[in-house]
Amino acid sequence: MTAYPKTTKLMQRGIDFLGSETAILCGAMSWVSERHLVAAISNAGGFGVIACGAMTPELLDAEIAGTKALTAKPFGVNLITMHPQLFDLIAVCAKHQVSHVVLAGGIPPKGSVEAIKEFGGKVLVFAPTLALAKRLLRTGADALVIEGSEAGGHIGPVATSVLAQEFLPELAEDHVVFVAGGIGRGDMIAAYLEMGASGVQLGTRFACASESIAHPAFKQAFFRANARDAEASVQVDPRLPVIPVRALRNKGTEAFTAKQREVAQLLDEGKIDMGEAQLQIEHFWAGALRRAVIDGDVEHGSVMAGQSVGMVTKEQPAAEIVAELMAESEAALG
Ligand SMILES: Cc1cc2nc3c(=O)[nH]c(=O)nc-3n(C[C@H](O)[C@H](O)[C@H](O)COP(=O)(O)O)c2cc1C
Repeated sequence: MTAYPKTTKLMQRGIDFLGSETAILCGAMSWVSERHLVAAISNAGGFGVIACGAMTPELLDAEIAGTKALTAKPFGVNLITMHPQLFDLIAVCAKHQVSHVVLAGGIPPKGSVEAIKEFGGKVLVFAPTLALAKRLLRTGADALVIEGSEAGGHIGPVATSVLAQEFLPELAEDHVVFVAGGIGRGDMIAAYLEMGASGVQLGTRFACASESIAHPAFKQAFFRANARDAEASVQVDPRLPVIPVRALRNKGTEAFTAKQREVAQLLDEGKIDMGEAQLQIEHFWAGALRRAVIDGDVEHGSVMAGQSVGMVTKEQPAAEIVAELMAESEAALG
C-alpha cells in the first residue's frame, strides 16, 4: 500500500507471494473464518483464510464458492492434516483453483504437499522445530508460519519472540516466513519485519471485526478480557496426545479437564486407541468452540483467544484494523 512505503517495502516478498496488498494474514479460525470474514479481510488488503476445520468436502466446496462470490481478491484455505478426508478436501481446492493452502495441525502426511502443488496451489506449513521447517521447505512447502504460544487456539510451547530469534536468522533470507502469535499492534509487526519476516498472521485481533459472524456474546467476552484471562489448557494425563489450547478461562475449561479424564479411562480400559483418543479430544474442541462462537455460550463453550485479547476493545471493520496495523507499523519504522 503506497500510504505505508516502509512497511510495504519490508513486506514485499510476502505481498508478492500472497498476491494481496499487505502481507497481513488473518489466520484461519474455526467457525469464525467463514466467507464473510475471509472476504472482508481480503477486500481490506489483507489475506483471508477459510478455516475448513471439521467441514465435509461438500461444505468446503460451498464455502469457497461463497467466498468467491464476495471477493475477487486472493484468499487461502486452511486444512487440518488429521482430517480423515484430507485428500478429498485438497481435490475441492483443486476444483476451485485455490491459490494458497495452509496445512495445519501436524506434519503434512505423505503426498499432501505434492497434491496441492500439482494443481498449482502454494503451500504454507507450520513447523515446531527448525529442523522440521528446513525439511518441509526442502521438500516442497512454499512458505512457513511460525506461531508462538501467545496465540489463540491450539498452541506450541515456545513464545513467538523466541521462535522468531531461532527461525528468522536461519530461514528468512531464502524463504518466505510469516510470524504469528501475540501480535496486537503494528509496532510488533514492524519489529518482526525488521528481523526478516515477510509478513505476519493475526487471529485474535480479527475475531471481533464487524464482518465476523461470531455471536455478540463472544465478542463481548473478548472486549472484557485481559491478556491474563487467555489461559493455556492443562494436560491431565501425560499419555494423552493433547495439544494445549489457549482460551478465555470459564466453566468450559473445567469441562475439558473432565473430558480428558473420561478419554484417559477409555484408554485404560482398552476401549479406544491413541488415534481415537486424539480425535475425541479434537471433536470436543470443535464442539466447544462452536458453542461459544455460534451459540454465544461463553460460559460453557470454548472462547479461544490469544494473549493479545486485551488489545481488542471494540468492534471495528476489517479495513480499519488493517489500516491501523499498517499505520502503527509505519510510525514505528519512521
Ligand atoms: C478462535 C480461534 C480459532 C482458531 N482456529 C484455528 C484453526 O481452525 N486452524 C488453525 O490453523 N489455527 C486456528 N487458530 C489460530 C489462528 O489461525 C492464528 O494463527 C492465531 O490466532 C494467531 O495468533 P493470535 O491469536 O495471537 O493473533 C485459531 C485462533 C483463534 C483465536
